[in-house]
Amino acid sequence: MNEEHFKKIISHSKEFGFIFPSSEIYDGLSATYDYGQNGIELKNNIKKYWWKSMVQMNENIVGLDAAIFMHPTTWKASGHVDAFNDPLIDNKDSKKRYRADVLIEDHIGKIEEKNNKDVKKAKKRFGNDFDENTFRTTNGNILRRNEEIKTIESKMEVAFNGDNLDAIYDLIIELGIKCPVSGSNNWTKVRQFNLMFSTEIGSLSDDSSKIYLRPETAQGIFVNYLNVQKTGRKKLPFGIAQIGKAFRNEIIARQFIFRMREFEQMEMQFFIKPGSQKEWYNHWKETRIAWHKSLGFNNEDLRFHDHIKLAHYADAACDIEFKFPFGFKELEGIHSRTDFDLKQHEEHSKKKQRYFDPELNESYVPYVVETSIGLDRMFLALLSHSLKEEELENGSSRVVLSIAPPLAPTKAAILPLVKKDGLGEKAKEIYHSLKLDFQCLYEEKDSIGKRYRRNDAIGTPFCITIDHETLEDNKVTLRERDTMNQKRVLIKDLSTIIDQKTNMKTLF
Ligand code: GAP
Repeated sequence: MNEEHFKKIISHSKEFGFIFPSSEIYDGLSATYDYGQNGIELKNNIKKYWWKSMVQMNENIVGLDAAIFMHPTTWKASGHVDAFNDPLIDNKDSKKRYRADVLIEDHIGKIEEKNNKDVKKAKKRFGNDFDENTFRTTNGNILRRNEEIKTIESKMEVAFNGDNLDAIYDLIIELGIKCPVSGSNNWTKVRQFNLMFSTEIGSLSDDSSKIYLRPETAQGIFVNYLNVQKTGRKKLPFGIAQIGKAFRNEIIARQFIFRMREFEQMEMQFFIKPGSQKEWYNHWKETRIAWHKSLGFNNEDLRFHDHIKLAHYADAACDIEFKFPFGFKELEGIHSRTDFDLKQHEEHSKKKQRYFDPELNESYVPYVVETSIGLDRMFLALLSHSLKEEELENGSSRVVLSIAPPLAPTKAAILPLVKKDGLGEKAKEIYHSLKLDFQCLYEEKDSIGKRYRRNDAIGTPFCITIDHETLEDNKVTLRERDTMNQKRVLIKDLSTIIDQKTNMKTLF
């Protein structure tokens, strides 16, 4: 756990207008956050890049914006009313509540960490001759620990798949898992807790008016599958993508914007021919990990994690995990959902959800492979990766958000060296000429050095300084965020230079 880095991300987010605690003047609301002036720009840019990659770049994927409120039977059909539960366990001494599966997975993570430490040590010892693969497949300690992990995973799988909460409790005791706060293993039994928020529609408050805040955006896609397929004359395989809010009454809502009660998802359901799910599952795994890498994430900060405990709808599932400051955690899920959802909706709505396959001359319920990424988690991953404190050659240091330029909240800061002598007016003129194409900001307060630092901290790729010479030669000083190099360029070339670096095309 890199606690220092995590604390810096949280304080930086607030200081520079990325994220504020929700309704802070009333002391905030737990696990709820507001995005500030820079946060909203970054968030919008992530959405834009995802939408371009998924919808605009794929001729067989279209978008949708379904309502948050849905007919309550939706959630009965999807299984969320009966099965969208977390297995929870309380420590009697600390009174802290945990997800039982997370406690066991963290325990496995610690064993894996021991393996990684042994690999690191051996790498140091053997230098260039070291072959990690051979070491991992022959070293006695690693093999023994891998066996231990396999045994735990198989016990966990049997317990979860059989809904055997007592067996999960027994496993926690057997593994000697202790509460990180109290250090004791004085646990309660494991219980299930439904995560959906409910409210009433209309003025009557009885059971018939009970509706839910959607816990995932996916069901809005499923119930519109036929609308889109028919009106869009879509042939399988095709996808429907959606970005929107989801709500979960998370019990353990901590770690800043990692786990919130109100969050945003970017989901895509890909409707396919039954039997082709393995091929498409692998396709989307590869496509999605490549998307993350295109934003500059390092290979060693991303990994796949196959699910042991499969959700009620999946026949295969994995997470793309990112190395957050608090360890590897889920960033995106890729799920092979079979025909579960459409079949359930067919049964509950009594309306056929079939596809007529002209090649086979038959109708069937399509299978679905889903990609589902949390927008807020992606935001946090980008901040974790990009926020750096750099030592400079002159002995000073700077804080810089070296985020991929197309995602940067502001693309260019327009800075008159001084406000007087007509420099302010000239700078404003440049600002107005660029603002239609780029998110720009105009700043005239403080020394130029301070303004550079402020823009480094919010990730602005270019600072444009207007000085007295500008009035004579129509040139400005262009400073690049990452290299801090400065050069004189003609005002008329600014637009092309900024575009070359900040256009989303550079990410594809
Ligand atoms: N439709 C499938 C689905 O919702 P999920 O794994 O429960 O699957 C998908 O959620 C993604 O949504 C996760 O990978 C995560 O990025 C994000 N997510 C889930 N719960 C969240 C929460 N409480 N706060 C923030 N993001 C969350």
